[in-house]
Amino acid sequence: MTPVANDVDALDNAAQQVLRENDRGGYTIPTAGLYPYQWNWDSVFCALGFATFDEHRAWREIETLFEAQWPNGMVPHIVFRTDDRDYFPGPGVWGTTELGLPWPSSGISQPPVAATVVRWLLEQSSDRALAERRLRGLFTGLCAWHRWWHAARDPDGLGIVTVSHPWESGRDNLPDWDVPGEAIDVAGIGVYRRRDTEHVDPHMRPHKVDYDRYLALVRFGRERNWDPARIAAENPFWVADVGVTAILLRAERDLAHLARELGDTTEKEAIEARIARMEAGFDRFWNERAGTFCSYDLRSGRHAEAATSASLLCFYAGAGSPEQRARVLDMTRKWAQEVTYLTPSFEPSSPGFEHLRYWRGPVWAMINFMIGVGFAECGHGDLADRIRSDTASLIEQSGFSEYYSPVDGSGAGGGAFSWTAAVWLAWASPNANGFNRTEQTHGDR
Ligand code: DGY
Repeated sequence: MTPVANDVDALDNAAQQVLRENDRGGYTIPTAGLYPYQWNWDSVFCALGFATFDEHRAWREIETLFEAQWPNGMVPHIVFRTDDRDYFPGPGVWGTTELGLPWPSSGISQPPVAATVVRWLLEQSSDRALAERRLRGLFTGLCAWHRWWHAARDPDGLGIVTVSHPWESGRDNLPDWDVPGEAIDVAGIGVYRRRDTEHVDPHMRPHKVDYDRYLALVRFGRERNWDPARIAAENPFWVADVGVTAILLRAERDLAHLARELGDTTEKEAIEARIARMEAGFDRFWNERAGTFCSYDLRSGRHAEAATSASLLCFYAGAGSPEQRARVLDMTRKWAQEVTYLTPSFEPSSPGFEHLRYWRGPVWAMINFMIGVGFAECGHGDLADRIRSDTASLIEQSGFSEYYSPVDGSGAGGGAFSWTAAVWLAWASPNANGFNRTEQTHGDR
């Protein structure tokens, strides 16, 4: 259902209001209470939303995130500029304060969407000189972060990147992590007070067994001072993730484009070599039994059993053979029959599917945005339009929720959520004009 003009304007205003209210002065929190700090990929999506009404503020969002970049290049998943009792585990638990970092932060990263968004900010800017200046300020940090992903999370040069913690994938409690997670020793974790389930219905959040594992991995990294070499060698959880790899591959293509814009031949060549390795490596995710791209546990050598919404990101990444992509398209069309709203985060016919529990089924607006852009660029306009209009319908029906049921469209998780508001402004709103929805515009492929 397409909303009438008045409703669209009202929603546009409400979305701007969400971003303004979650703005803590140069950085934006995902939502008050549940997530009271700066989160990495949340922040980058916020920049896209800000760009629709305040370009300077959009660049600032990414700059503040990179102010917390570690000397080794990692951009952390949470930046703790305050110590907020509403959140657990806070800065003290991560044990990074002794490491001489610019800001207290968590010890892991999150999906690297920044280079892609920086390219979009540049291309959609109304003040090109300002945009080029801001790009120059960020470019070195972006290159260092990408190098970190390869060195720290793909030390064997397989062309696929691992996550050392479910939180590093950004898709925290995906069923993919259940079997690999059994190797995590939770002994001695003891009693702790979760804060997330005080803000949100526990049925929409991870189980205690998941949380015990999250905390055990934080303890594991903290005891090794977050040394990437030791984590790569010893971490009990070491899973190559389709989502992070697809997002990084896409971001590398956009970074190569930015290097060309800046005339940086040395970086461009280094990035192109990484792209070639990743294009070849992506095939390791193919699980013939599931007929799609699935995460791959490097400790056990086993694929996850079922598809997730990240399987559909092969179009956004520019990865996969024509045959593989045709199978993913068939799967998407099957899902479109099985749920009311695309895109469920987990295979809807799988026994593990739960329509309201965090990453075990719900629809996420920013994942839909990336999937929709990928489909549009590759000429699958019907699916791109369906995903965009489903996202718009969910937001009209249930507001700017953290995520939504793909079955009945109800909103779940936190409310007044920044990245949902940002994705509305940049893409899902009928007034959004930043993205051509049916033609290839951004991928260099
Ligand atoms: C949380 O606190 O559950 C976050 O998703 C971690 O990134």
